[in-house]
Amino acid sequence: MAAVVVSLTILFHGESLLAQEKTSSAVFLADGKLKLPTGFRNWVFVGGPLTPNGLNGGHANFPEFHNVYVEARNLKAYKETGKFPKGTLIVKELTLVLNPTFPDGSRTEPSGRGFFNGPFNGIDATVEDSKRFAKTNGWGFFTFGHHAMPYAASAAEAPVNECAGCHMANVAKTDMTWVQFYPLLRDK
Ligand code: HEC
Repeated sequence: MAAVVVSLTILFHGESLLAQEKTSSAVFLADGKLKLPTGFRNWVFVGGPLTPNGLNGGHANFPEFHNVYVEARNLKAYKETGKFPKGTLIVKELTLVLNPTFPDGSRTEPSGRGFFNGPFNGIDATVEDSKRFAKTNGWGFFTFGHHAMPYAASAAEAPVNECAGCHMANVAKTDMTWVQFYPLLRDK
């Protein structure tokens, strides 16, 4: 009976519930793709690194603000243990710099000359699962597009050389995450 219920659920939602942790916000579809995360803009905002074109010869790989969100319970667990729990989903949403008026991408506002958040422009995400992503230090890497909304509805795991490789080479010791750029995680 339980098996019937499970297969019906898969039929109706197209999602493999078997492989999912109830506590995780990462939703994997039956074909192994990760569903576009939702609700993350209400999670804890841990930081927003910025690598503007103006400081990268006019061609930064990611010229946007990188707004990073983690769920409060996973943030708490990392602070206590130095490890993110299984199923942790970290979302990095890009926002363009707002209407530049100077060649370096900056503009002047009452607070001063600088960079201000413009439109949303893409999503990358990482998911912790030491079994599913054993080959890449227990984290899966996904990109839902580097462009204005709407984003892709789902994403396949990205190849190692596109994503995980750089994180493995640099931040393997801090659970594959650049905690040094996020005060809430760094100063635990
Ligand atoms: C050349 C190195 C490099 C590559 C390749 C790379 N990243 Fe990162 N990633 C970084 C750095 C550095 C940061 C933190 C600073 C920043 O955002 O500028 C980061 C941050 C992140 C974050 C926020 C959480 C964290 O770990 O700090 C996510 C999510 C992420 N990357 C996913 C991806 C995905 C998905 C890909 C492939 C599409 C990818 N990264 C490719 C270097 C890389």
